[in-house]
Amino acid sequence: MSLMAALCVNVVTVNMLLSVFFLSDVSVDCGDIPGLSITAPKEMEALSGSCLLIPCNFTAKEGTHFNSSRDIYGVWIKSDSRFLNNKDNVIFNSSGSVNSYKMKMIGNLTEQNCTTLFSDLDKNKSNKYFFRIETEHFRATACDDPLQITVRDSPWSPTINISGEVKEKKSVTISCSAFTPCPHSPPQLTWNLPQNSHSQIEENTDGTFTSKIQQSITLSHSHDGFNISCSATYPVDEGKPGKTKETQQTLSVPYAPKETSASISPSGLVSAGSWVNLTCSSRANPPVSNFSWFLKTEHGSMKVAKGHFYQFSVTRGGVYYSEVTNILGNNRSNEILLTVEGEEEEIHYGDIKFSDGRPAPSSVGEQDSGQQQETVYARIKASKSESSSEQTAEGLQDIYAKVNKK
Ligand SMILES: *[C@@H]1O[C@H](CO)[C@@H](O)[C@H](O)[C@H]1NC(C)=O
Ligand SMILES: *[C@@H]1O[C@H](CO)[C@@H](O)[C@H](O)[C@H]1NC(C)=O
Ligand SMILES: *[C@@H]1O[C@H](CO)[C@@H](O)[C@H](O)[C@H]1NC(C)=O
Ligand SMILES: *[C@@H]1O[C@H](CO)[C@@H](O)[C@H](O)[C@H]1NC(C)=O
Ligand SMILES: *[C@@H]1O[C@H](CO)[C@@H](O)[C@H](O)[C@H]1NC(C)=O
Ligand SMILES: *[C@@H]1O[C@H](CO)[C@@H](O)[C@H](O)[C@H]1NC(C)=O
Ligand SMILES: *[C@@H]1O[C@H](CO)[C@@H](O)[C@H](O)[C@H]1NC(C)=O
Ligand SMILES: *[C@@H]1O[C@H](CO)[C@@H](O)[C@H](O)[C@H]1NC(C)=O
Ligand SMILES: *[C@@H]1O[C@H](CO)[C@@H](O)[C@H](O)[C@H]1NC(C)=O
Ligand SMILES: *[C@@H]1O[C@H](CO)[C@@H](O)[C@H](O)[C@H]1NC(C)=O
Ligand SMILES: *[C@@H]1O[C@H](CO)[C@@H](O)[C@H](O)[C@H]1NC(C)=O
Repeated sequence: MSLMAALCVNVVTVNMLLSVFFLSDVSVDCGDIPGLSITAPKEMEALSGSCLLIPCNFTAKEGTHFNSSRDIYGVWIKSDSRFLNNKDNVIFNSSGSVNSYKMKMIGNLTEQNCTTLFSDLDKNKSNKYFFRIETEHFRATACDDPLQITVRDSPWSPTINISGEVKEKKSVTISCSAFTPCPHSPPQLTWNLPQNSHSQIEENTDGTFTSKIQQSITLSHSHDGFNISCSATYPVDEGKPGKTKETQQTLSVPYAPKETSASISPSGLVSAGSWVNLTCSSRANPPVSNFSWFLKTEHGSMKVAKGHFYQFSVTRGGVYYSEVTNILGNNRSNEILLTVEGEEEEIHYGDIKFSDGRPAPSSVGEQDSGQQQETVYARIKASKSESSSEQTAEGLQDIYAKVNKK
């Protein structure tokens, strides 16, 4: 019992001390019903070494004696709680009497604009801040609208945005934007796309700002896989290099299969009963979902296999090609002539003119199977697809030798 009594006495003493303290310094304290409210973001992030623009306007509550045409001062108070009764918490008074944190009232208080520029931020200044208005007859703190400021050391990653339909031949607008806490000291944006416009600073609906560069491009399959890389460099205290953050985004442009090529291994003449491999490759986005192999016959093309790889035991020669499909379309490879030893007479080598044994490497493509000369080149190129033109010529010599032997 006596312990409880002692505790009660202690509590009363503390309360009395607090009351004395309140009475001696009530100037900035929060009333039960704050007479002031502000419109400003509830939370803001800033970069150490840089500045922060606080968009702000204020309204006096109805029934208060606020008259904006009189001398008017804006005050910022730093506090983690609604308990503001400590003079050291007042860090800024637009009268000029206090400015312990580098702040500047840039809004016109007569127009109820309390927009403030906060400079030279460091992590120490991360805190809750309250705004207060003082005129001759009106003094009130916006106790229900504290602003939480968080100062960080690392900058923000810029954001890459692609608007429009991402498709071949379509024009899209690619933009890179970066959070801009202080439009007086905006980040510099650079990227690996043509940079023919200066970055623009846009105001967001909440009064904060965004820096942005943008570029329109007409897409082609060659843009597929391109890495857009954008970096934002924030200036910090003079003399120091800015703080940079980079963002990458890979462009994915869908296109129908292209550059479809078929190759054969081994190349050259093969003997009946031996195994050969046919391989087909193609570029497509999304990747080819369906590879089919066809053999040309007198009755038209006959589908002989599925899959990008076709291995079979040779029974007879013939002309093969592959056809590939993705959701956007299909494409056909070059034709491959498979010649079986002992069947060569079926093919009219006499028609082939190896003028100097070193033909210009033929572009493998849509060749008429009637043109035997082209078909032979196609096979040679395909069989030594990685080789130099010298080796291609050797391949030709091989065949030439064999033809001569006959
Ligand atoms: C204060 O700012 C808000 C948001 O920007 C706006 O809607 C409102 O009209 C402003 N009030 C005054 C008095 O300027
Ligand atoms: C506001 O102040 C102006 C100039 O001092 C004065 O003329 C006006 O009557 C005041 N208005 C109110 C509502 O107090
Ligand atoms: C702000 O400055 C004015 C003018 O010097 C002064 O009257 C007022 O008491 C100051 N208020 C605070 C909270 O510092
Ligand atoms: C408040 O003042 C700032 C700084 O001068 C200005 O940019 C902003 O447009 C003003 N806001 C309003 C609502 O007038
Ligand atoms: C602030 O706004 C008032 C009312 O619009 C105007 O009379 C005054 O000149 C402005 N002050 C400044 C410094 O712009
Ligand atoms: C943070 O505050 C402490 C104490 O107020 C001070 O000693 C220190 O230098 C400050 N740090 C920075 C980065 O300003
Ligand atoms: C990208 O930009 C478009 C058009 O400007 C917009 O509608 C969309 O919300 C933006 N997306 C992102 C993630 O910013
Ligand atoms: C593009 O970026 C991705 C991820 O950052 C990376 O894996 C890829 O190798 C890059 N491609 C090119 C062509 O630079
Ligand atoms: C296959 O793609 C090539 C481009 O690599 C194109 O020139 C050709 O017309 C296409 N062929 C067919 C049959 O789609
Ligand atoms: C054909 O492919 C198989 C399986 O990949 C491989 O083992 C074989 O060596 C290939 N033959 C030729 C002639 O390339
Ligand atoms: C695959 O492609 C072939 C020829 O291009 C076609 O006949 C066949 O229907 C296709 N199969 C599927 C599952 O799409």
